[in-house]
Amino acid sequence: MPAGKRFSVACIGAGNVGATVAQYCLDMELGDVVLVDVVEGLPQGKALDLTEAGPVRGYSCVAIGTNDYSDIAGCDVVVVTAGLPRKPGMTRLDLVEKNGKIISEVCENIGRYAPESVVIIVTNPLDVMCYLALKRLGFPPRRVVGMAGILDSARLRSFVAAELGVSMKNVDTMLLGSHGDQMVPLPRYTTVSGVPITQLMPKERIDALIKRTREGGGEIVALLKTGSAFYAPGASVARMVQCILHDERQIVPCSAYLTGQYDMKDVYIGVPVRLGKGGVEEILELELTDEEYAALKASADDVREGIEGLRKIGLL
Ligand code: APR
Repeated sequence: MPAGKRFSVACIGAGNVGATVAQYCLDMELGDVVLVDVVEGLPQGKALDLTEAGPVRGYSCVAIGTNDYSDIAGCDVVVVTAGLPRKPGMTRLDLVEKNGKIISEVCENIGRYAPESVVIIVTNPLDVMCYLALKRLGFPPRRVVGMAGILDSARLRSFVAAELGVSMKNVDTMLLGSHGDQMVPLPRYTTVSGVPITQLMPKERIDALIKRTREGGGEIVALLKTGSAFYAPGASVARMVQCILHDERQIVPCSAYLTGQYDMKDVYIGVPVRLGKGGVEEILELELTDEEYAALKASADDVREGIEGLRKIGLL
C-alpha cells in the first residue's frame, strides 16, 4: 500500500460480489477501496482493472488488491463476501460449517486491523454468519450488519414497476425476516408514489410477484448455471456503504441484532434500521398483523437453528 494512504472501504473476498461492490463504490466516488482475497493475483488484477476504468467513468477513487489483511487498517467500512456458495448435495449445516470457518478467520483479521470499522456481512447463510461475526469480533452490535433486505426489496420494486408500467423510482417497499424463503413481505408498506400496491393490483398478482422475489436468488442461479447473482447484491451493499460513509440515516431493511425489539433477542433478522455513520443507529418496530409476526418469528427460529449448528460444530 502507498505510504500514508488511507482507504475507506475494504472488501474481503474479491469474487463476483466483492468486485462488484468495489466497482459501484468507486463509480459512486464513495472512497478508495481495498480488495482482499486468499487467491494470489485475483484481488490485485481486479483492483488494477477497476482503477484503470476511472478515467473513462470519471472517478478519481482508486482500488488496490492484496492478500495481506494489514492493508485494511483504517478502513471505515469492511464488507465481507468471502465464502463458498452452497453446492448441490451440500446440507445447510455443511454450508454453515464451511462459511463459518471462513468468517471466523476473516473476523480475527478485521478485529486486529480495523477494530473501529462498521462491518457489512454478505456471506450466506446471512443471518447466521452475522451472528457468528458479532460474537467473533466482539464489536457493539450496531457495527455488525447484514445485507439482504435492500436486495430483496430491490427485486420486488423492479417486479412491481414492470407489472404496473411505472418507473422503479416510484416504487418503495419494506420487508422483514430472513433472506430468501423466509422473507416476510409487507404489501401494505409497498407503495407506488405513496399508494399501497394493495390498491393497485389484485391479490393474486401481488402474491405472484412476492413468490418471484422470494425465489429471486434461485431464478438467477438457474439462468447462470455457474454462480449466483452479483450485480444487484453488489449495488445493494454499495448503497449501505453510502448510507454509512455519508451518515445518511436512511431507513433500510438490513439484518440486525435484536435486543428485545419485536419481542425477540440474541438473534439476527431482517428489520428496518436507520443506517448512518455508527452503523445501525436504530431498529424500527413496525406494527405487524398476527400473521406477519408469526412469519417473522418462524424466520428467526430458522436462524436460531443455524446458530445452534454453529455451537454443535464448536464455532461458537
Ligand atoms: N479470505 C478471503 N477471501 C476468501 C476466503 C478467505 N478466508 N475464502 C474464500 N475467499 C474468497 C474466494 O477466493 C472468492 O474469490 O471469497 C470469494 C468468493 O467469491 P465468489 O466465489 O465469486 O462468490 P460470490 O458470488 O462473490 O458470493 C460470495 O456472497 O451472496 C453471497 O452466497 C454468496 O456466500 C456467498 C458470498
